[in-house]
Amino acid sequence: MGRGTGFGKTILFGEHFVVYGLPAVAAAFGKKTIAEVEDSEQLSFTDNRPQTPGYKERKRDEINRQLDLLLDYFKIPRDGGSISITLSGDLVCASGVGASAALAASIVRAISDHKNLGLSDEEVNDAAYKAEEAGSGTPSGIDNTCSVYGGFILFTKNLEGGPNDIKTLSVDKPLDIVMASSGITQTTKEVVDDVRRLRGENPTQYERIWSDYRALVDDGVEAIKEGNVERLGELMSGNQRLLAEMTLSCPQVEEIISAATSAGALGAKLTGTGRGGSVIALTPGEALQDKVSKAIEDKGYTTLKTSIGI
Ligand code: MEV
Repeated sequence: MGRGTGFGKTILFGEHFVVYGLPAVAAAFGKKTIAEVEDSEQLSFTDNRPQTPGYKERKRDEINRQLDLLLDYFKIPRDGGSISITLSGDLVCASGVGASAALAASIVRAISDHKNLGLSDEEVNDAAYKAEEAGSGTPSGIDNTCSVYGGFILFTKNLEGGPNDIKTLSVDKPLDIVMASSGITQTTKEVVDDVRRLRGENPTQYERIWSDYRALVDDGVEAIKEGNVERLGELMSGNQRLLAEMTLSCPQVEEIISAATSAGALGAKLTGTGRGGSVIALTPGEALQDKVSKAIEDKGYTTLKTSIGI
């Protein structure tokens, strides 16, 4: 049997901007998807991952395209000497946590383990990126990179097709966060395509948003390096305002953000695709983390208390 894992991720700065070659900051968090692969006469796929209601149904076609790509990539027949794939783990599938990248990374690692291919992390990341492309169109690669390598990264996509620029960020103290799920599952490709359309239709507005973001992410990286959590929180909220202007927020996301900041979160923003999905709130210290998590749960949403940059 072969086994592989893929981490969940959260984006602190730069979802969508990253698709256009602007830098973005992301971190893996301590929840993962586990894939197990065994020989089987016929292809079988069992998905035991926990999920927000409706996630797997909504993502069924995307998941099937990812699986198809990976079977072709590894030249595995669908019957007559195929494999069984079983997914599990403690990453609750939801929009915004990198669930599809964790699926791809875990399956690639499990196939490599099962077939004794000895793939390097770079090779695993390449294959996971191809699966992400098959699943969702034009991904930047930030999700699979986080899922494969883990850690805290500053990621810039190479628009020329060469290697992406990936720098590791380190912090003296892990950053405590609360992740919250709006319960709404989005299709990343549809939302990315819509942002492309809006940007094409409103060039002056988007040029200003782009330049505001550029300044903001540079300050964000400085704040992370200096361990200045107050400033980091302000900048995350600033990123949220830009994302909202790009029509990526929604009432549920706003309700979570407002509950989080009223309870004392230093900053909060949507994370990932947006128009639903997940929210990240910056909550240093266990007491604040508990308070913010409770305030969000009191509004009827599920949360996860975790740390990044460990
Ligand atoms: C999705 O987690 C992040 C997006 O920027 C898409 C991508 O980077 O591929 C919306």
